[in-house]
Amino acid sequence: MEEQTLKISKIKDGTVIDHIPPGKALKVLSILRIDEKDGNSISIGIRVMSKRLGQKDVIKIENRDLEKFEVDKISLIAPDATISIVKNYEITEKFSVDLPQRLVGIVKCSNTNCITNTKEPVVGEFTLLSKHPLQIRCNYCERTMNEKEATASLF
Ligand code: CTP
Ligand code: ZN
Repeated sequence: MEEQTLKISKIKDGTVIDHIPPGKALKVLSILRIDEKDGNSISIGIRVMSKRLGQKDVIKIENRDLEKFEVDKISLIAPDATISIVKNYEITEKFSVDLPQRLVGIVKCSNTNCITNTKEPVVGEFTLLSKHPLQIRCNYCERTMNEKEATASLF
């Protein structure tokens, strides 16, 4: 049973990002760098009814695949999102995003004195401390960052 069929139509080809926490869809779109220059058709449901979650956000993007680094970024703000790949109206692949225990090259450390922010060729690396609410710690300087800070300094 599909709870939001009446609100948002099915797509022919593309990607569905479902079970986004209510109100976070626009943040997900900014992660995907979707803006007015983007040519794809996109449907966005904000605070639509969900049997499982009460409310949720959902995004449907036609003719667009997601890269692994994009899915990793999405996992920071929507750790329980499901992603479905649709081909000719059928779901050919469906998976849950996975917030990794180690985040490499996704978030830039907010500590300006951190070695990852100097000229040293060191890529940012964080350890997940908590998923709800998000808390990550830089493996180099031990700075901890919350969801707001982390999503404000994505690579
Ligand atoms: N979907 C779509 N277009 C299609 C097929 C599916 O937009 N051609 C969307 C559905 O609307 C849903 C998501 O892809 O948001 C996953 O589809 P499906 O697994 O059929 O939905 P549910 O059974 O409701 O999944 P869940 O249990 O994950 O909520
Ligand atoms: Zn650091």
